[in-house]
Amino acid sequence: MKVLVVGSGGREHAICMKIEESSKVSKLYCAPGNGGIAQIAQCVDIKAEDLDKIVEFSVYSGIDLVVVGPEAPLVAGLVDKLNEKGIKAFGPTKRGALFEGSKSFSKDFMEKYSIPTAKYKVYTNSQKAIEELNSFQTPIVVKADGLAAGKGVLICETIEEAEEAIKNIMDEKQFGNAGNRIVIEEFLRGTEASLLCFVDGKNIIPMESARDYKKAFDGDKGLNTGGMGCFSPNPIFTEELKKYIKEHILDKTLKGFISEKIDFKGVLFIGLMVENNEAKVLEYNTRFGDPETEVVLPRLKSDLVDIMLKCIEGNLREEDLKWKEEKCVTVVLASGGYPENYEKGKEITGLDKVDEDIIVFHGGTRLSEGKVLTDGGRVLAVTALGRTLEEARYKVYNNINKIKFDKIQYRKDIARI
Ligand code: AMP
Ligand code: GLY
Repeated sequence: MKVLVVGSGGREHAICMKIEESSKVSKLYCAPGNGGIAQIAQCVDIKAEDLDKIVEFSVYSGIDLVVVGPEAPLVAGLVDKLNEKGIKAFGPTKRGALFEGSKSFSKDFMEKYSIPTAKYKVYTNSQKAIEELNSFQTPIVVKADGLAAGKGVLICETIEEAEEAIKNIMDEKQFGNAGNRIVIEEFLRGTEASLLCFVDGKNIIPMESARDYKKAFDGDKGLNTGGMGCFSPNPIFTEELKKYIKEHILDKTLKGFISEKIDFKGVLFIGLMVENNEAKVLEYNTRFGDPETEVVLPRLKSDLVDIMLKCIEGNLREEDLKWKEEKCVTVVLASGGYPENYEKGKEITGLDKVDEDIIVFHGGTRLSEGKVLTDGGRVLAVTALGRTLEEARYKVYNNINKIKFDKIQYRKDIARI
């Protein structure tokens, strides 16, 4: 089979690595890929958002399966366009991707199917939203409805701050059209956890769990980022919590998909707030997480291409997912200044010095004249499996010391639990 992966981050590198292992695959392409992906796949210079070029390339090259990594092309309808040309694609269609593309759509769905989530209201008029702020208790969570590169959620300590956030999003168009509509909701307390699931239209099957670290600095200080590190499995997922999630979230979500005739195929990533072995849904995403994928896929024993094809065909079973007992840790090496301003183009050295059992996923790198250069905020995800979390953690940090680039920035407390 010829497979094309769309995207350019650490997530796509992890997906490519797993796909490349499959005996079914004769040729692997990635659009646009990065400096690490280029070592295992043929990178094609097409941006993930350039839907028409991706479709054209897929038809021209006889691609059998397209795997879409990031949310933007899913929300824009890449899978629909590929299917129209008879090309198989892993990921939801435009309608399914609305679960990530529109927070109000997701919240209305959760309300309709009694899925536990924060109380909320949807507004399309800033004046009305501001007038009704007094009906919410502080802190108040203000969310832009559409995609905002992970920046569209503002947690406001006071009514004044919430008013400011509403004006910035709706009137000043801080996130463009993504803010034409907003969701205002109650603030939830507890511990956040992510659950990634494979969905085949009829079944939602959870993968092994992961714990993400969203803040830039040690001790959960600093700004929110895409994720600075991760480990799997996440011990918060007790049997009791898993049972709660199945009954109150997964089964009801599936019932909703079926009632609404949403033929969801791909990955459903559920962001949860957990308290006392119960959980509420913070959000749905319709793709693999980054860096969750970098710790979950290295633990997968089964053939990822098989699983993806079964999702598309609608016949995935729980037994199709086999996992390693080993634990996995990843630590993200970022460019100094991330998630705000940072420089690119710094030479990365020491990648050839890391131990053989270390996996270095590239997030933002490019190759130039035989050198690997930084090319983004999250540059590398240094990953190891171990019999215990401590062993995996030790291996990762021991090897990070060998990798160097100017203004390197990373957390020292990932998986220290
Ligand atoms: P979302 O994109 O909706 O997951 O929101 C991004 C982040 O904002 C989440 O990972 C949480 O840390 C935080 N967040 C979102 N909604 C809430 C809420 N209702 N209560 C507390 N924190 C929230
Ligand atoms: N790590 C969070 C995300 O991928 O959305």
